[in-house]
Amino acid sequence: MADHLRKYETLFTLTPQRMRMIVEAFKEYLELGLEKPKQTVPMIPTFVFGWPSGEEKGDYLAVDLGGTNLRVCLVTLQGDGKFEITQSKYRLTEEQKQEDGQKLFDFCAESLKSFIDNSLMESGQMKDGQKLPLGFTFSYPCSQQRIDHGILIRWTKGFGAANTEGEDVAAMFHSTLEKYQLPVELTALINDTTGTLIASHYVNPQTKIACIFGTGCNAAYMEHVKDIPKMKELNIDENADMAINCEWGAFDSDEHEHLPRTKYDIIVDETSNKPGEQAFEKLISGRYLGEILRLVICELIDEGVLFLGQNTYKLENPYAFDTAFLSLMESDPTDELLMIIGIFSHFFAVETTLAERQFFRALAKLIGRRAARLSACGIAAIVSKMGYLDEGCSVGADGSLYNKYPGFADRIHEGLVDIFGERGRNITTYHAEDGSGVGSAIIAAMTKKRKDAGIHPDL
Ligand code: BGC
Repeated sequence: MADHLRKYETLFTLTPQRMRMIVEAFKEYLELGLEKPKQTVPMIPTFVFGWPSGEEKGDYLAVDLGGTNLRVCLVTLQGDGKFEITQSKYRLTEEQKQEDGQKLFDFCAESLKSFIDNSLMESGQMKDGQKLPLGFTFSYPCSQQRIDHGILIRWTKGFGAANTEGEDVAAMFHSTLEKYQLPVELTALINDTTGTLIASHYVNPQTKIACIFGTGCNAAYMEHVKDIPKMKELNIDENADMAINCEWGAFDSDEHEHLPRTKYDIIVDETSNKPGEQAFEKLISGRYLGEILRLVICELIDEGVLFLGQNTYKLENPYAFDTAFLSLMESDPTDELLMIIGIFSHFFAVETTLAERQFFRALAKLIGRRAARLSACGIAAIVSKMGYLDEGCSVGADGSLYNKYPGFADRIHEGLVDIFGERGRNITTYHAEDGSGVGSAIIAAMTKKRKDAGIHPDL
């Protein structure tokens, strides 16, 4: 197995020099996205103006349509960076992700209705006749002309619901809310990264960037309006700041010039429901890492290197190898690698030798490490563009990969040092606040305050 491993080491290892080249290219894409509309990395202005004060207060509802779950929450902001949250979570089925978009929004509204009726009204947290502001966290790329509007550019993370791309999803959700006569006012459409940026700053004002490393991957940061040329005609005060949802998962999707894609990455792309899209995300996010490893294993099965004489059909199903297995394999504490024995025998009905298990663990490490180092490249591009390196900054990060994959954060930090040298230590990531719930509530509060003060009430 050692010879094979060497081959994969060469394919999946990113040298510091290569990382620096990626960062330089990435910076150009970020600039281009701010300059003109409809660029590969769209750099979406969110109409979230500046940082929260920390004093935002009140009750807010949030609906969070993520890559895996739907969550509905009541958030009570208590000021002084404090809050309370009550929530319910529902797992999305594969049909819901692929059926008609309006049906998906109906499910969101039905879930919100049952949360309000059965949970909030019952407990007295909401009263008859009361109407609450609602933030809708919709974590897919949407181009926004104002805060309660968003045209879905493309589905990501394996979603494919029909009649939604190119539509205003805020308007679609709004009409569903009216149909169910829910006592809410849709105040803002929010990306999870923007919510995370604002929620993290609410409790840790050192935060300047937020990232999600979960089923999908993306980042948001605060930009000076004067440095967003494509927004010039809106005549917004040049001294204002606005959060930008980068949608960096699309980096290098058109040119395929900068990212070190292997043949396994190309297969993942070509067999996905969105070939040619989200090139960066497909090398990093939790939706794809397990599949990359499965493709390597399948190649070795075909070459007669692995599982000779065993029935391997279960391994041959696309997406059968969950990214959570990579986490488990990397964290297996036993010399015999008992966890890995369990994964292969229980889920795939094959037996493994110790040498094979060591090989699988090493492979998981290569794929997980590459994902973290590429993530570092994205963070470094924003840091370098904004000039945050010397003063340093905190990066609020969330998502299953960041929270559960062993060593993911350390590998990002190592990557930042490889890119920037010792000064890379000035940039640290930390586990962020719940952006999709708390962040959405703070943004709803900030938006109400801004509009009440007559600042761009139409945006
Ligand atoms: C979406 C982003 C989102 C990210 C993390 C990506 O697939 O395009 O909007 O922020 O996933 O959830």
